[in-house]
Amino acid sequence: RDRYTGLINRYRDHLPVNDDTPIISLGEGNTPLIRLKNIPKLLGKDVDIYVKYEGLNPTGSFKDRGMTMAVTKAVEEGSNAIICASTGNTSAAAAAYAARAGITAFVLIPEGKIAMGKLAQAMMYGAVIMQIRGNFDQGMELVKQVADKAPVTIVNSVNPYRLQGQKSAAFEIVEELGRAPDYHCLPVGNAGNITAHWMGYSEYHKSGIVNAAPKMVGYQAEGSAPFMRGERVEDPETVATAIRIGNPQSWDKAWKLQEESKGWFDELSDHEILTAQKLLAEKEGIFCEPASAASIGGAMRDIQSGKIPEGSTIVCTLTGNGLKDPDTAIAQCQDSRMVTIDADLDAVKGAILS
Ligand code: F0G
Repeated sequence: RDRYTGLINRYRDHLPVNDDTPIISLGEGNTPLIRLKNIPKLLGKDVDIYVKYEGLNPTGSFKDRGMTMAVTKAVEEGSNAIICASTGNTSAAAAAYAARAGITAFVLIPEGKIAMGKLAQAMMYGAVIMQIRGNFDQGMELVKQVADKAPVTIVNSVNPYRLQGQKSAAFEIVEELGRAPDYHCLPVGNAGNITAHWMGYSEYHKSGIVNAAPKMVGYQAEGSAPFMRGERVEDPETVATAIRIGNPQSWDKAWKLQEESKGWFDELSDHEILTAQKLLAEKEGIFCEPASAASIGGAMRDIQSGKIPEGSTIVCTLTGNGLKDPDTAIAQCQDSRMVTIDADLDAVKGAILS
């Protein structure tokens, strides 16, 4: 069997590359699809729930799928620099793939509103970091304006190659299940990823590889839920900083795919998001970041209510690794079973027996 060398090589027939394209890869994609064992029992429902653990990509999020394509094409087209606005994960991926390609990454991040792991990544990979006194949406507008005038390639999901790379997650799921799931649940910020998944499922559907596509379900954080409000949100807020977005870039595409797939949008409170994150870690041994938990938290609620019926196969995308945001994790585990004891045998025995 051939060595796995990343998703562009794996899916080159479905991607805009040719034999001369200089592929920039860190071995992204091919992430585990894990069948949940304990949460379905807790729900008391006969459902098959799988999580697609995108946190195991090279920089710890699904962004690597899009970034391998975007940076590959930027280099192919002769670009020496890339730029993005980011709530953290895109900046980490952009910085890493730029380092790999030997080009410069400029990243705009909202000051004080990105998780520490993500900031550490952008710094380590050597990006030029601009912390703005503003939010993601403002950063996004600035990046679009500057990319018009300066010799830098924009690598946010408005770059069409990003979604091309990200659609590969749907291919992997179909190949592994031997069919499309009935429901595919994702957290939604800019709605790029849900759009990319729908592209992937639709491509496999049209080419006859599967005979059905899933209903696409997008979950937002209640304080940052423009799809629920039906309009842009001015001051988005949520503990799930990855999806703290009020002006989604793939607004029209997302509404269209919702209609085509017969799916829906819904929203979760910060409390529901954190509860789902903890439950998944405690009951299944899977640690995702807060934004990612919106998918499983929302799915659990819709399974419980019967909106997602028994007998269904459900895939939830866990977009980012839990290690990205240690501060939020530790803050919500203040009642965890941790004791401080002396470094002697009796103290350890005592702690075990108590
Ligand atoms: N989950 C995580 C962990 C994310 O980082 C993002 C987006 C999303 C979900 C939402 O995906 O925007 O395609 O709907 N993060 C971007 C960033 C905005 O800058 O890292 P979407």
